[in-house]
Amino acid sequence: MRLNQQNILLGVTGGIAAYKTPDLVRKLTAEGANVRVVLTDSAKEFVSPLSLQAVSGNPVSDDLLDPAAEAAMGHIELAKWADKLLIAPATANFIAKLTHGLADDLLSTLCLATEAKIYLAPAMNQQMWKAAATQANMRILEKREISILEPASGEQACGDIGPGRMPEPLELTEALVDDNSSLELKNKHIVITAGPTRESIDPVRYITNHSSGKMGFALAKAAANMGAQVTLVSGPVNLNTPDAVKRIDVESAQQMHDAVMNAVGDCDIFIGCAAVADYRPVQMVTQKIKKNNEELTLTFTKNPDILADVARRQQAPFTVGFAAETQDVSRYAKEKLARKNLDMIAANDVSRSDIGFNSDQNALTLFWSDGEKSLDVADKGKLAVQLMHEISARFIAGKP
Ligand code: C5P
Repeated sequence: MRLNQQNILLGVTGGIAAYKTPDLVRKLTAEGANVRVVLTDSAKEFVSPLSLQAVSGNPVSDDLLDPAAEAAMGHIELAKWADKLLIAPATANFIAKLTHGLADDLLSTLCLATEAKIYLAPAMNQQMWKAAATQANMRILEKREISILEPASGEQACGDIGPGRMPEPLELTEALVDDNSSLELKNKHIVITAGPTRESIDPVRYITNHSSGKMGFALAKAAANMGAQVTLVSGPVNLNTPDAVKRIDVESAQQMHDAVMNAVGDCDIFIGCAAVADYRPVQMVTQKIKKNNEELTLTFTKNPDILADVARRQQAPFTVGFAAETQDVSRYAKEKLARKNLDMIAANDVSRSDIGFNSDQNALTLFWSDGEKSLDVADKGKLAVQLMHEISARFIAGKP
């Protein structure tokens, strides 16, 4: 009963995937949610209001101007009733209406009138999904507080193959449940490092590594969605800052160290996800080095270990590190957990080309003093949500 007593308003628009909504309602109610359904006119061509009324146990609404429905539960009342508003399937037409704030039927009006979080499950022909207008609308909606439940790829009702299938009812239900656990990290301050660092050799050259920052940014997004106040200290990356995350941009390891030490004072959890350069040139020469010699020797000095320095603070936060290894992953990770005095370490095998650095996917094994857990290969966004749940569970368990 993970959605116990939550009021979920389900908006159904006119796509073929609407036939799956009675099953969706059953899955939501099985988790304890109170579900009310609003249909658009075209949705009624794909699914019957009567079936949705039967499975939800509540009258189905479809008309903004119906005096009888307004007398029972008016549209403003319905908008206030909802804790969450899930629109599944959301057609290209409805997405366009939502983007521009139209209110010409009950569902679009409710979207404007509600304070509830809106979840959108787009479903349409793959070409309509890829269309510039739809994608531009999605980018606008992403910048609002709307949660996008990305369409899956596969064979479509029209015979096309590609992205645009509505996620299955179970996945949609899990997405609402996942968001629900957000309360766990409410009012907690989390500092995360992400990306590579850049160590200057001269005014035009530097050394760095292949870290894209994707995992750290995904963690920041997941933590913010779980209600945490997040500070993201990032090396140079090409990524947008997740909503409601405070981002501090740095270049070198030393700058990252300083920014982190400034930020961790009141923090509850620190996650070192950055690929920090272990060494930097002893000195940054002020003029561009000329190619006068056949050989060039640079001398490096060790950078501070940000993670270890946070873990050794007097009132250290719950400290989580990453271990990117190419062999003996478990042994090296456990050794690092102990040596750096960490609460948890997330290890990944960077010798695999399908996951890790620069990839959109990753797989992790987590270790803590008396336990371990493997998280299977998944999209970094999904993996970040799982990892944040694990961190949160261990953090709470470790509290006196
Ligand atoms: O020792 P190693 O570099 O393998 O440790 C990796 C972990 O330590 C990562 O969590 C990384 O963010 C952190 N680290 C750090 N500062 C360094 C080197 C690594 O915070 N100078």
